[in-house]
Amino acid sequence: MEKLYEGKAKIIYSGPEEGTYRVYYKDDATAFNGQKRAQIPGKGEINNRISSELFRYLAEHGIPTHFIRELSGREMLVRQVEIVPLEVIVRNRTAGTFSKRYGVEEGLSLPRPLVEFSLKNDALGDPLIYDEALLGLGLVGEAELGRIKGLALQINALLKDYFAQRNLELIDFKLEFGRLPDGSLVLADEISPDTMRLWEFGSQKKLDKDRFRRDLGGVEEAYREVLRRVIGGAA
Ligand code: TYD
Repeated sequence: MEKLYEGKAKIIYSGPEEGTYRVYYKDDATAFNGQKRAQIPGKGEINNRISSELFRYLAEHGIPTHFIRELSGREMLVRQVEIVPLEVIVRNRTAGTFSKRYGVEEGLSLPRPLVEFSLKNDALGDPLIYDEALLGLGLVGEAELGRIKGLALQINALLKDYFAQRNLELIDFKLEFGRLPDGSLVLADEISPDTMRLWEFGSQKKLDKDRFRRDLGGVEEAYREVLRRVIGGAA
């Protein structure tokens, strides 16, 4: 099958059926806009399994997604979408770029979840973008923007609850959305420890990509632990 696109963590192939893509999850890890690179053995399979499980859970709770089914350990079948060129970030506590940008310590509880947008553009370093600019540049329409924010907050509530039942606190995460041929919006891309921050309640242990970004060690073990809790169900 034809390779259509290779990204930092995944490869997209044409799918076995009309209107589908096959997504292959790689072991490659990158951070800081590709400046830091490594292989995390087993990550591709772990992320495919976690992502598949989370898409299934969200779909069961009424969230439209591009996910169709798992094809193999490292591959999922998804519906073809046109990706909205935005990184949609939801934050429950301060961390990462947000803490740096505003000079606040990490881990502060936010009174309500924040939805933030970055333009998906590696050459520009994925700059933060505000509503007026999104609308002004014609990247989304007003109704679509409202729908993206609404879905992002709904997904946050569902995932927060899901992980809390597994003794993990969802600190922040990144989503991408896509448009189906009829223009309707669906959740796309992936949801995995590469794209969220998860801290264990109590110990505050980080079980996500910050172990790689910050050289904390135990990266593969942390990803495996998240998978174990996802597969194992609610505590
Ligand atoms: P953020 O704090 O904005 O950036 P960084 O991870 O570089 O400190 O990230 C917020 C969350 O979104 C975090 O869980 C990682 C995720 N994220 C991605 O998956 N991809 C991205 O390109 C960005 C900017 C964030």
